[in-house]
Amino acid sequence: MNAEVEPPDVASIAAETVDGTAAESVAIGAALVVFGATGDLAHRKLYPALASMAVKGQLPHRLVVVGVGRTQIDDDDFDAEVHNTIAKAAPDHAPEWAEALDRRHVRFRYVAGSIDDPETFSRLATVLAEADKDLGAAGNRLYYLATIPELFEVAARGLAGAGLSSEEPGTFRRIVVEKPFGHDLPSAIELNDELHKCFAEHQIYRIDHYLAKETVQNILALRFTNAIFEPLWNRRYVDHVQITVAEDLGVEHRGTFYEKAGALRDIVQNHVMQVLALTAMEPPPSFAADPVRDEKVKLLRSVRPFDPERLKRDVVRGQYDAGEVNGVPVPGYCEEEGVASDSTTETYLAMRIEIDNWRWAGVPFYVRTGKRLPKRVTEVTLRYHAVPYLPLPRGAADSVEPNELVLRIQPDEGIMLLFAAKVPGSPFRVKTVPLTFSYKEAFDEDPPEAYERVLLDAFLGDATLFIREDEVLQSWRIVQPLIDAFARGEVPLYRYAAGTWGPEEANELMHDSDDTWRCP
Ligand SMILES: NC(=O)c1ccc[n+]([C@@H]2O[C@H](COP(=O)([O-])OP(=O)(O)OC[C@H]3O[C@@H](n4cnc5c(N)ncnc54)[C@H](OP(=O)(O)O)[C@@H]3O)[C@@H](O)[C@H]2O)c1
Repeated sequence: MNAEVEPPDVASIAAETVDGTAAESVAIGAALVVFGATGDLAHRKLYPALASMAVKGQLPHRLVVVGVGRTQIDDDDFDAEVHNTIAKAAPDHAPEWAEALDRRHVRFRYVAGSIDDPETFSRLATVLAEADKDLGAAGNRLYYLATIPELFEVAARGLAGAGLSSEEPGTFRRIVVEKPFGHDLPSAIELNDELHKCFAEHQIYRIDHYLAKETVQNILALRFTNAIFEPLWNRRYVDHVQITVAEDLGVEHRGTFYEKAGALRDIVQNHVMQVLALTAMEPPPSFAADPVRDEKVKLLRSVRPFDPERLKRDVVRGQYDAGEVNGVPVPGYCEEEGVASDSTTETYLAMRIEIDNWRWAGVPFYVRTGKRLPKRVTEVTLRYHAVPYLPLPRGAADSVEPNELVLRIQPDEGIMLLFAAKVPGSPFRVKTVPLTFSYKEAFDEDPPEAYERVLLDAFLGDATLFIREDEVLQSWRIVQPLIDAFARGEVPLYRYAAGTWGPEEANELMHDSDDTWRCP
């Protein structure tokens, strides 16, 4: 071993895992193979995450980053490209990040070739063997599929075909699979089957980067490490739950991709289902990977299948027209680049979900997500039952609303409890006021980027924040009837102006109650 190499700081890394203990310590050496090394995700998320992790001492002690792509560049070009990217991503941190990558002995290699060409994998095998022998990668490999979804199975087959998927004793071979995982239930089943021909389930890390957000994980902390919330987390006290995932952006440069996805596949099948599962699941015996995932799967199994007879009442689809967001005029969806002028893809979806179990029977979960809404906000709101009787004179309690507990996932991460307080002075009047907890104020450090967490946990072998095979299939099971009904044109597509909270019809979802959407 090189004498100038510093000892690995395994302890500090182990402390970062969800349950506070690492399933196994981070490898002393590893290779990170990025399929799609020249792409948008790698540049915007993965390379800056690696640099930030290097500063925090969260990388394997010897790391070789091997890029794969068709673009004809060499090792030095790739090295320079990554350094340029991190310099642009965070100009203030650039020197510190570059120095840390160097100090941590991170090395860059590049394999030019197509993923559907077996020759590419022969060359990759040679590069990896050299990385093990000369650069201390120690036979540990993390394959990151940051490429187009059509190539996920092809890449897995290529790796297995070149003998790169099976784990030698004392080493790991893991494959990180980006979203989307399939485009419907049959394709997700097929992708699972194909991956399993090449990798065992424990080697497969399916990403939902939402899970890697600190505030999503905080749903676990809030619910299961405090005594005061859980007793109130059920049908006896909760009237209904709202989940809002709102974006002010349109489809940006991803029009072609979004046309095939729509809000259902882009947000609901993955992020919303994960947030729903964490919000509604039963307490797990520990925060380790399988106990948490067991409970999430159990919850997803309890989601009542959509009733085809009620789809028009329980699901509202929308698409934005031109409008104004944050004071800036913006085009309608059908005028966006890469979008058909007569597109019927939904950019907004609101739905009522029922959960058939003892905890939640009769408590509707209202979900809404959309693009070009007034602001970017993700939050979960538990609205409690109104008090049975108000011992106040008429007029003194006009503005008393039922209590709400709001879990703000982004931005301004935090928690807010809305309750009634007396207005100072007389006569006796009450008003709803917020009690707030802000992450930023409580902890004097920025939460890590989700992709740092993704990479760290994948290196550590902690799968808690990744989606298990049965979880991904359960969430596709829930949305498949909607995919079919949308394709048959059975659910109308309503219009909304960009910059508004979606189609008017979304308010009708709460038709059999006095409920209203919370204005975040
Ligand atoms: N971008 C995001 O913000 C984002 C967010 C969440 C998830 N994702 C997911 O991340 C993945 C990558 O997305 P992206 O936006 O980064 O896509 P992208 O910019 O189009 O990049 C695709 C990458 O795949 C490589 N590639 C394409 N065909 C190839 C082939 N036949 N052989 C070898 N390499 C090939 C391209 O490299 P060459 O052209 O050099 O071959 C490029 O590096 C997708 O699954 C996407 O859904 C992306």
